[in-house]
Amino acid sequence: MSIDVSTNGPIATITINNPDELNALDVQHLRDLLTAFEDISARADIRVVLLTGAGERAFVAGANIKRMSVMNKAEAQEFGDLGHAVGRAIEATPQPVIAVINGFALGGGCELSLACDIRIASTTAVFAQPEVSLGIPPGWGGSQRLPRLVGKGIASELIFTGRRVKADEAIRIGLVNQVVAPGELISVATSLAESISRNSPSAVRASKQLVADAFDADFDAALTNEAAVFADAFEEHDQREGMTAFVEKRSAVFEDVNT
Ligand code: COA
Repeated sequence: MSIDVSTNGPIATITINNPDELNALDVQHLRDLLTAFEDISARADIRVVLLTGAGERAFVAGANIKRMSVMNKAEAQEFGDLGHAVGRAIEATPQPVIAVINGFALGGGCELSLACDIRIASTTAVFAQPEVSLGIPPGWGGSQRLPRLVGKGIASELIFTGRRVKADEAIRIGLVNQVVAPGELISVATSLAESISRNSPSAVRASKQLVADAFDADFDAALTNEAAVFADAFEEHDQREGMTAFVEKRSAVFEDVNT
């Protein structure tokens, strides 16, 4: 398989499995990622998704340059559209998706991480949008998501130069949430996933959609929607349970969502 999917309780892990090519992504990887995110989206028992790369060297070293080197315009359009579909599928997945970045996150690999909700990186992580050195601009959302995350000035510099960003700089510019030693990466990402999975799944899912509105919706419309989604929660089990548990000084027992 071009990717592996495993589950451990409420946490699903998707591992891109092409370590001999530093997990560079071809059409098959993208199709398999789409299927995996569609499957996970339909699962009420999964509360958080981890996305990582196989091996010790790379999260994803980019779109597969060997495949791209022989593409014509129509094939490149299809490849770009497919990369966008994966980014949108990650954003449309109702559960939070955490990128667990265990090495190179270059080009399409950086872009894949940008579509995730949270990025946890190892001290060995290296980011870049080096497309211009290959004679192309970013094609899987980097020109849009990187400025939204780190600001236009820094994104422009990184995209125009293609220079590499190590983990210490990545945390400073807000490209990642946390940097940890390589040996602790999985355990730190798993505990973050566990802490999310202890919260109300329906409230976490609603929150993911509301945060997306910060970029994709008109401000007033987004606030109106937030108020409505907030009120809707008061007809749900988890609101009663969460608040009653607080009053009774006990842990809340939340329900899986109805899918
Ligand atoms: N596409 C296809 N194959 C890739 C790849 C990519 N994006 N990135 C790495 N690989 C392959 C290499 O071709 C090599 O395969 P080979 O053994 O068949 O030659 C293998 O992965 C190992 O990479 P290698 O370059 O030998 O390792 P390195 O430690 O010397 O360098 C990198 C690592 C990541 C710096 C280097 O591979 C690189 O620059 N990759 C391309 C990064 C890039 O521009 N990505 C953006 C694409 S849009």
